[in-house]
Amino acid sequence: MPTLKIAPSILSADFAKLGEEVRTVEQGGADWIHVDVMDGHFVPNLTFGALVVDAIRPHTKLPLDVHLMIERPDAYIPDFARAGAAMITVHAEACTHLHRTIHLIRDQGVKAGVVLNPATPLSMIDFVLSDVDLVLLMTVNPGFGGQQFIQEVIPKIRELRKRLDERGLTEIDVEVDGGIHDATAPLVVEAGANVLVAGNYIFGSADRAAAITKLRESTTK
Ligand code: DX5
Ligand code: ZN
Repeated sequence: MPTLKIAPSILSADFAKLGEEVRTVEQGGADWIHVDVMDGHFVPNLTFGALVVDAIRPHTKLPLDVHLMIERPDAYIPDFARAGAAMITVHAEACTHLHRTIHLIRDQGVKAGVVLNPATPLSMIDFVLSDVDLVLLMTVNPGFGGQQFIQEVIPKIRELRKRLDERGLTEIDVEVDGGIHDATAPLVVEAGANVLVAGNYIFGSADRAAAITKLRESTTK
């Protein structure tokens, strides 16, 4: 299993000072910065586009992990790559030609990830597992920060890690997103996740470094 990584989601940051917010979590020990892009169609909320990725890029050396919760992602992938995304993840539910979209991401020189909503079965991505660098399993229904963790996803995480191991795809990151805090992190890591997205838990805390440390330590107890 790849190493544990903590990816604070800027969805819960102060948008009026994003550069500073990103620098604070980098200094606090974050591994990636998670960037939530929403279009008001695929999910019932709107956030921002590639301009914001471009604006935060100079403020951190950490990889920008861009989570596209949008319909027709192919039209925007080159823009996000140019803006400085290190990895781009697309929802299987939003892609009619998932294999093509994954390869479009890779053709930009960016790592490719695929995301599943809590109710979507793993079988939807069985035939693209060897084409991706990471799989993101949503542990809430996407659209908002601060929602409650959906426990039923835990066996799906375990089954995904098993399928990856059986196929020798041991370097693929298994990321989880939604409702992650110091009580849910140990459960998802035990099941096989190694990238923890956390918005509210980290940016909702006055001491971001302490929150990141506490989250990391919760997984080793
Ligand atoms: C939800 C987003 C998440 C969100 C997680 O649609 O994809 O990345 O920011 O927020 P928390 O950690 O607050 O549940
Ligand atoms: Zn996200």
